[in-house]
Amino acid sequence: MCGIVGILGREKAAPLVVEALKRLEYRGYDSAGVATLEDGHITRLRAEGKLRNLANKLDTHPLKGTIAIGHTRWATHGKPTANNAHPHATDKLAVVHNGIIENFRELRKMMEGEGIVFKTETDTEVVAQLVTRELATTNDPRTAVARALPQLRGAFALAFIFEGEPDLMIGARQGAPLAVGHGDGEMYLGSDALALAPFTDTITYLDDGDWVVLTRTDHDFRDAKNNKVARKTQKTSAGAFLVDKGNHRHFMAKEIHEQPEVVGRTLAHYLDMAKAEVALPFTLPFDWKDLTRLTISACGTAYLAGYIAKYWFERYARLPVEIDVASEFRYREAPLPEKGLALFISQSGETADTLAALRYAKENGQKILSVVNVTTSTIARESDIIAPILSGPEIGVASTKAFTCQLAVLACLAISAGVARGTLGRDEAARLVNELILTPGRISEALHREPAIRDIAQRLTKATDVLYLGRGTAYPLALEGALKLKEISYIHAEAYAAGELKHGPIALIDEKMPVIVIAPHDPLYEKTISNMQEVAARGGNIILIAEDEAAEQSGLAGIAHVAMPAMATDFAAIPYAVPVQLLAYWTAFLLGKDVDQPRNLAKSVTVE
Ligand code: M6R
Repeated sequence: MCGIVGILGREKAAPLVVEALKRLEYRGYDSAGVATLEDGHITRLRAEGKLRNLANKLDTHPLKGTIAIGHTRWATHGKPTANNAHPHATDKLAVVHNGIIENFRELRKMMEGEGIVFKTETDTEVVAQLVTRELATTNDPRTAVARALPQLRGAFALAFIFEGEPDLMIGARQGAPLAVGHGDGEMYLGSDALALAPFTDTITYLDDGDWVVLTRTDHDFRDAKNNKVARKTQKTSAGAFLVDKGNHRHFMAKEIHEQPEVVGRTLAHYLDMAKAEVALPFTLPFDWKDLTRLTISACGTAYLAGYIAKYWFERYARLPVEIDVASEFRYREAPLPEKGLALFISQSGETADTLAALRYAKENGQKILSVVNVTTSTIARESDIIAPILSGPEIGVASTKAFTCQLAVLACLAISAGVARGTLGRDEAARLVNELILTPGRISEALHREPAIRDIAQRLTKATDVLYLGRGTAYPLALEGALKLKEISYIHAEAYAAGELKHGPIALIDEKMPVIVIAPHDPLYEKTISNMQEVAARGGNIILIAEDEAAEQSGLAGIAHVAMPAMATDFAAIPYAVPVQLLAYWTAFLLGKDVDQPRNLAKSVTVE
């Protein structure tokens, strides 16, 4: 979602802030702005749309201050206009904000009652006005912020600069992440380490409820009760990851093509390939044998990775799995088994609903295992144990390589659980591990189908609705296909378990409706193909993703076919994810959509 960068530096800070904000573009935004101090006075530039609009404004109105805060805004309260863009300012301060101030209406009403005039529709302006109101009685920015913060409810990361204070920046964090970067006679604030990577690799994350007072040479961390606290400073490797597209047009394309390598790397971390065994790189703080149920929760694509893993945990470990999207799970008041295990999956590790679900599970006595990409994230830090997916930074808003790396880790965990519970014999476990070892090669082979997939995508560009069908693990993969297509091409898509077709959705089938059938050669294959025949009998426009022979065997002339390599089907969902991703990618590309930053979407969803 929104991105924050703050610099207390020695050179002109505004251009550096705008440059750093570009590293946060992937999070999704619809306006941007920067504020600095010029001769002690707050000066701002804000622009609707992409950062280049802000950069153009900065070219014509250069800002010379050496202190600056900047922001990319993903609109929640008020339209994405320049006026609603951050920083918000009064004559005393400027502030940028990620998250939502839940009690902004009552605070605004209270201050309007006192005669304070608001200039925007945003919740954030309330923060600017509230601290300014406190400054009227204290004159000290630190005291004013300390008094204002407890009045705010909601999720926020904040960065302030103050009129006449060129060596002062204050940051605060509750629910949304914020990090301090330490430089040589310089200090930084950023919503993640990636934003700060060009400046420093030395980072301190604020804990929830913390706030920090920064000067160029000093930092003062406080907790929610205003006690002085020390937080661990760490070296980050964010700078080591080149955030560029390589030879690809889009980050999404690059990330799809990286999958053989990153999935291979992840598997190498979790498997002893020579012994054909799972060798988890950590010790679990629980015993799989003691579990009566596994509770999984996540959002979006991460949820669908969990949904696929449900089949694996149940099949290989005979472990009943309950899975729900985190936004429902967190409020369902689900009873949880004593000493149970709750598993959370999140690429960013900052998704607000997943974090809230995790906290609910923790309060209810569960051990917490999280499968995350960002190992410094809040979800990672609040878990008992993390299983990193090691996919490297994922920049495209549409999750691709994180999905397949999540699946690789979850497959290893399921095999490990099966061995520990005695439900998988050594030979069967070794067979499964050998299947996993072949997966990166199969992903590569699937990528070779790209030219054919591009041609098939041409058909989808004309569709207004698309139906995906699958059985077994191909059903959650069908859901993932529909999600991917919706989010980047804006074509309406739905997925059904193929067996559900005749219970309703078959009524939709006509020659205009593309139906994508995902049919790996597993024990349910024949049944899926029968469902496909039902679609064909009603004139449906079929796109079959299945092994080489499948189209011919079906006896249906003229159907579009993504011919997949032959493979054992235990973990087919991983290579079969590739055509699903490529179909969405090429459809969006051919339609001229913004593939990496689709409208209305954010990479890291830090609000409910
Ligand atoms: O960072 P997370 O994995 O927790 O994010 C969860 C979802 O927001 C995310 O997977 C979203 O659905 C993607 N845009 C899908 O491509």
